[in-house]
Amino acid sequence: MTNSDPKSNPGEPAELRSFARTRTRGLTARQQDVVDRLSEEVTIGPNVNDGQDAAALFDAKFDDVWIEIGFGGGEHLLWQARNNPEVGLIGCEPFRDGVVRVMTAIDSEKLTNIRLLADDARPLLRSLQPESIGRAFVLFADPWPKKRHHKRRLINPGLADLLARVLKPNAELRVATDIDDYLQAILLTFHLHSSFQWLAERPTDWRHRPDDWPETRYQTKAIREGRSCAYLRYRRI
Ligand SMILES: C[S@@+](CC[C@H](N)C(=O)[O-])C[C@H]1O[C@@H](n2cnc3c(N)ncnc32)[C@H](O)[C@@H]1O
Repeated sequence: MTNSDPKSNPGEPAELRSFARTRTRGLTARQQDVVDRLSEEVTIGPNVNDGQDAAALFDAKFDDVWIEIGFGGGEHLLWQARNNPEVGLIGCEPFRDGVVRVMTAIDSEKLTNIRLLADDARPLLRSLQPESIGRAFVLFADPWPKKRHHKRRLINPGLADLLARVLKPNAELRVATDIDDYLQAILLTFHLHSSFQWLAERPTDWRHRPDDWPETRYQTKAIREGRSCAYLRYRRI
């Protein structure tokens, strides 16, 4: 297996790219203006210092810091930021259009509690101070449907280890998927991991989306195409 992720630390296990390379159109003048004005303030690099305090990525002091990995168009990230102004949100997404969309909303709504990493989340997860994140979201990670591509799926035991490291004890991890065989693999991954407890007590707990879990663009498409979604909540033990 070759390592296509040049940002893996030397000596760390090889990591395959987990996202598709999407061609994007050029930015409009307005978008370019937003990117020019906001990038320095709201974006963070993938290679933050080892032991980076998550709270120190924000100018203001927040009660807690949450992270969303693969925020896509940013619907869920923005909803959480608007509805939890006492929380700092780190959003990670290599898809440039999504990053620009969120930056535009930050600009027009004057949101101060979002920081963006326009790249793979995993190097950041490795660098953040242990037990510094109060909640994590990984919603509808790319399904990579072909069997030979399953090894690219983001949610795997390696990601579970990274999340276990950065989440505070009792922190919540939220995961969603609409792909049956990915669901099985996700359930197995966290079942076998000693740091996570699945919070579902009955099927309705994971077949229904809680009120504070807004719909994403990908989820809307999944439902329109007739797939049912699983909403998994775990507690970091
Ligand atoms: C199927 S989309 C879902 C987007 C969004 N969560 C939603 O529900 O609409 C998965 C997203 O995860 C992003 N992604 C994949 N691997 C990632 C990684 N290693 N770090 C951060 N984001 C990643 C992709 O770029 C893509 O936008």
